[in-house]
Amino acid sequence: MEVVPLDSESAVADMAAGLLTALVSRRPDAVLGVATGRTPQRTYAELARRASGAGRSLAGVRLFLLDEYVGLAEGDPAGYLATVLREVAEPLGISPDHVHGPDPSRLPESAEEYERAISDAGGIDLQILGIGSDGHLGFNEPGSSLTSRTRIKTLTRRTRADNSAFFPGREVPRHVMTQGLGTILEARHLLLLATGESKADAVAAAVEGPLSASCPASVLQLHPHATVLLDPGAARGLRRLDDYRETWAGKPEWQRD
Ligand code: F6R
Repeated sequence: MEVVPLDSESAVADMAAGLLTALVSRRPDAVLGVATGRTPQRTYAELARRASGAGRSLAGVRLFLLDEYVGLAEGDPAGYLATVLREVAEPLGISPDHVHGPDPSRLPESAEEYERAISDAGGIDLQILGIGSDGHLGFNEPGSSLTSRTRIKTLTRRTRADNSAFFPGREVPRHVMTQGLGTILEARHLLLLATGESKADAVAAAVEGPLSASCPASVLQLHPHATVLLDPGAARGLRRLDDYRETWAGKPEWQRD
């Protein structure tokens, strides 16, 4: 695992946008796995800014969502498909036909279909991930099987409280459909972004704790190519912070994506 402690939240977005820009330059039809939530918002905005500044079209890129709430009306603006269409695809000039998400209205068939859609696309080149303050990855809450596939899950009280700002005046849904940890592990490159002190304990458990279903994000330790970009708040709980800094600083440029 490549752990990269950075100076600020905007440095996290800059580096993530740099990695994504390098990927889509190499592979204009790249398959990107997109997380929603607050953390990657600056990265998507920075990626759009770079693409438009360079006159680069991202029209060939395909997007696959990690998860979706169960029980929202079609087109509900808080739904993750609606969010990705509005906040990622549109600013990047990616057609809605290139955006795929789990469809909770047709469970359980849609779970297997979603897995198939990912593999028919050739698999995910790079999966952007956030981390829950309880250590969830996607919406695989603590206790999730480390080899799980796309399915329905129940959100913890903590996650529902963390996400309440996205549902002003109404309840956060209790259930979600999420890629499993086994599904996520099949992406060729995992890019975890974490910012803010509220993520420090989860990041420390994921990076330096034991591999355990109690911290689903610890599955990153199993992946041959996982990059973790952290701002100072999120990196606060790491014991080997200086080692990570030194290792990253010593890496030649060509090894950095
Ligand atoms: C979102 C997702 C979640 C979030 C996590 C962090 O698609 O799968 O795992 O990445 O809950 O959310 P934020 O970034 O809002 O703190």
